Amino acid sequence: MRFDSVMAAINAIPPRQSLTYAPSFGIPALRKQWQKELFSKNASLADKRVSLPVVTCGITHGIATFADVWINAGDVIILPEMMWGNYGMIFSVRRDAHIHHYKLFTEDGHFNLPAFEQVVRQEAADHRKLTVLLNFPHNPTGYTISDAEADAIVKILKDVASSGTYVVAVTDDAYFGLFYEPECIQESIFARLCGAHPAILAIKLDGATKENYVWGLRVGFITYGGTFSVDPTDLFDALERKTAGCIRGTISNASHLSQTILLNSMLDEKNSAERQEKFDILMDRAKRVKAVCTDPKYAPAWDVYPFNSGYFMCIRLKTVDAETLRVHLLDRYGVGLIALGPDNLRIAFSCMEAADVEKLFDIIYQGIKELENSQ
Ligand SMILES: Cc1ncc(COP(=O)(O)O)c(C=O)c1O
Repeated sequence: MRFDSVMAAINAIPPRQSLTYAPSFGIPALRKQWQKELFSKNASLADKRVSLPVVTCGITHGIATFADVWINAGDVIILPEMMWGNYGMIFSVRRDAHIHHYKLFTEDGHFNLPAFEQVVRQEAADHRKLTVLLNFPHNPTGYTISDAEADAIVKILKDVASSGTYVVAVTDDAYFGLFYEPECIQESIFARLCGAHPAILAIKLDGATKENYVWGLRVGFITYGGTFSVDPTDLFDALERKTAGCIRGTISNASHLSQTILLNSMLDEKNSAERQEKFDILMDRAKRVKAVCTDPKYAPAWDVYPFNSGYFMCIRLKTVDAETLRVHLLDRYGVGLIALGPDNLRIAFSCMEAADVEKLFDIIYQGIKELENSQ
């Protein structure tokens, strides 16, 4: 049974691929195709085994499902102090977990390995299990670690695993692939965490949202990796079932129509050219932002946090309060930015024409001057 009025909008996709329920695991062909692409996008996965991805309703739901399956009340999750705000909602509010922060950058603008190591070692000393969430490209700063930084992170986690701590290392790869500078690692750190040590369980959360430019279709994935003392076929099967069981008990299954649209697009011969075209536009915007925001004329007003990837960049304000400036820019100029704490402003260059970049930074600067003069 179906309505013509519904089918009129999706007539290229038959009801059995759109209107019927998808399995709680996701449709098999899409899971296989996403897994195939994981291997082609992540060189270090060669010769390693990972589970079949389980389909979620977007990455937020992937994170929430991860939290439901793996996080108990009181557990600690290690995250940088600058982070996507929704982690607080998912881990602290929904699951009653504690987020322990480390400072993301060193003074010279690199990933803060000493701070990361310190919080990891502290948690390893206090608990039998630790959970680390790694998000690169990073929201809100747009930073992606280098190869060397990735290897150093893996080494630290391997070290605490060797000393008897179970490590759950979860990657939020929402902005995967949007790497604009050669120094960025060109794969997910998930690939290097897989098999790093039998006591490390690597979990990859990713999705079509940003990778395939389909924000509203709501298709995400959860994939497990690692080398364990038992046969990985049985283990991955158990992990996939446990995860799909959780999905069955929350949303039942993700949209069949969305999964089919995504699968068809991934199999379309135009797919890689389409992806490249959109990537080029975003990279152009990022490069333009980098050239403009570091102009010495703005130096009295802000510092720029390192960025080389993703959708966003952040500036650290030197003279005015971030929330006051945000409200002022919105009221006076209709410019919408995000204030993070008292000093930081996040700018989403992903949704801005390259030609408007200079105008935007001039407006921010103007707004700062106006607030300074009114103080
Ligand atoms: C770091 C991060 N993770 C996850 C998400 C959510 O992705 P989705 O729209 O697929 O739920 C976002 C952004 O919106 C994000 O910035």
